[in-house]
Amino acid sequence: MNQNIVWHHASVSAAERVAQKGHKPCILWYTGLSGSGKSTIANAVDRLLFMRGCHSYLLDGDNVRHGLNKDLGFDDTSRVENIRRITEVANLFTDSGLIVGTAFISPFEADRAQARALASADFVEVYVDTPLSVCEQRDPKGLYKKARAGEIAHFTGIDSPYEAPSHPDVHLKTAEMSIEQAAEQVVDYLQDQGILK
Ligand code: ADX
Repeated sequence: MNQNIVWHHASVSAAERVAQKGHKPCILWYTGLSGSGKSTIANAVDRLLFMRGCHSYLLDGDNVRHGLNKDLGFDDTSRVENIRRITEVANLFTDSGLIVGTAFISPFEADRAQARALASADFVEVYVDTPLSVCEQRDPKGLYKKARAGEIAHFTGIDSPYEAPSHPDVHLKTAEMSIEQAAEQVVDYLQDQGILK
């Protein structure tokens, strides 16, 4: 910790931002296996929020790994650091008053708990619950096939664990619903919680 760094307080308050935007900020933390539909559902939610005039933004795992986190791999230490950075960036977005979605596998319960603890706004854990067999059958990027062939190490669900959330705020059983229904379930939750007016 650099002791010569001083925290600057903002001249625009959080309450003023809520009044301007017409909704509260929050973090929508999507978690699920690769190929479970996190990005697809998160994008559908973003579209619904946009249509309602909300201010939102999505941080997507694959995209963030192309830039901010391009120095990180998939060993346990890197995944922990991946999640830590995402949480800090998400906090900057919520400080600015936005609803921010984060779509990362985030396989470890402890890291998601850490993200919740570090979050400076409401934290909504959204479990995109798609069975491994379905993700593997879809295999949109051909990665499960490569992982089974031993060409990718530490692949989640194959040779790296996925710890399913025990008490998600929103549980999307994607095998039983459409993308639109899943997105609506998330938006309904935000409404019920008073995050959306
Ligand atoms: S996380 O575990 O650190 O949260 P993240 O969501 O950022 O993962 O990245 C997952 C994406 O990276 C997958 O959807 C897949 O496209 C790609 N990927 C490449 N290698 C791996 C791997 N070993 N395990 C999981 N995903 C991988």
